[in-house]
Amino acid sequence: MGPAALWRNARVVPCTSVATATAPDADALVTEDGRVVWVGREPTLSPGLRARCATVHDLAGRLVTPGLIDCHTHLVFAGDRAAEFAERQRGVSYEEIARRGGGILSTVRATRAADAAALIEAATPRLESLLREGVTAIEIKSGYGLTLEDEARMLEVARTLARRHDIEVRTTYLAAHAVPPEFAGRGAEYVRVLAREWLPELARRGLVDAVDIYCDRGAFSAADAVTLFDAARELGLPVKMHAGQFADVGGVEVAARFAALSCDHLEELSAADAARMAQAGTVAVLLPVAYYTLGQAPPPPVQRLRDAGVLMAVATDCNPGTSPCASILLAMNMACRLFALTAEEALAGVTCHAARALALSPSTGSLAPGATADFVVWDATAPYELSYWTGLNRCRAVVRRGAIARGKL
Ligand code: NIG
Ligand code: FE
Repeated sequence: MGPAALWRNARVVPCTSVATATAPDADALVTEDGRVVWVGREPTLSPGLRARCATVHDLAGRLVTPGLIDCHTHLVFAGDRAAEFAERQRGVSYEEIARRGGGILSTVRATRAADAAALIEAATPRLESLLREGVTAIEIKSGYGLTLEDEARMLEVARTLARRHDIEVRTTYLAAHAVPPEFAGRGAEYVRVLAREWLPELARRGLVDAVDIYCDRGAFSAADAVTLFDAARELGLPVKMHAGQFADVGGVEVAARFAALSCDHLEELSAADAARMAQAGTVAVLLPVAYYTLGQAPPPPVQRLRDAGVLMAVATDCNPGTSPCASILLAMNMACRLFALTAEEALAGVTCHAARALALSPSTGSLAPGATADFVVWDATAPYELSYWTGLNRCRAVVRRGAIARGKL
């Protein structure tokens, strides 16, 4: 917040669309009261606004992008699944490990045993890794508790992390992640309970910004999604879906019918469903690190998504099983190299399109007048440099609501 500031001698990438994630076309911006009030070429800045700028920051020709957004994470969990990684290296598949009671359920056991303080301690290094890379907004899902109070604790921890780290957090209720042992063999009943009993209670506690379901082979069905999404609709909550990671079980059609914010993974996606997503304005969230970790094939049909006009986002999917990754820059690089996104699509995927997937746009995820003044100053001059490097973080400074929150210019 506070008085106006001019940020000059910059290369500003507005990221209002893929087209404007391409070339810096502005060299200055003005912030005031935590918002962007002007973006453009400095000579065209009005003398009146210029005179209001109490502070002038010279960015020495550096790249400026919106704060990055990680729109799909399971950041809060206890324990790890490194032993399963080693097992997969010996040839046992992810789905096989899950059938044996490992996988998600093994993280559920660890998470149920962890109190809030332990969950915060475990999640903090992962969050800090993302913050260091210029992430200013993040989605955090529940889904490793699978009882009312264990899910509540995960979501409360997500809210606590938001307060402690000055980051925008959107919480997503994902009790429909796996059938817990208490409901073994009674999956449909579990879905009715998590939809009709737990969801209204957690929404009443202000813990739920969106509702998600893992709709796939070996997980929940399209009919389960209808049960859950009907309950979400009654509460006025937006929905999203893990869909098509392993198989197309008809989930996307349901998601589109409920105007889902996003469908995520989508390695398996028909042309008809891509058209449905476009029609519904549902964002495709691509998760290349999960694809890489599981050594999956084929990749999501990116050209099909482009042809249909579906907006694509990119996220880490940070989780202990399929994506032990706390680097949004690595996810961008992999989206380019494994899924053949252009560097501009990858950048739009972690800014404006990620904001759409979290219902944060237009105030977040792009740099246009009226937007929240969350942006990153990079030791780079072109936007494609962000996807080009791996293992090198060129984030120099992060500005949150118009003030330097991290690093220095
Ligand atoms: O996004 N596919 C389901 N959910 C997660 C994996 C969670 C886990 O394995 O713990 C995912 O890939
Ligand atoms: Fe996920």
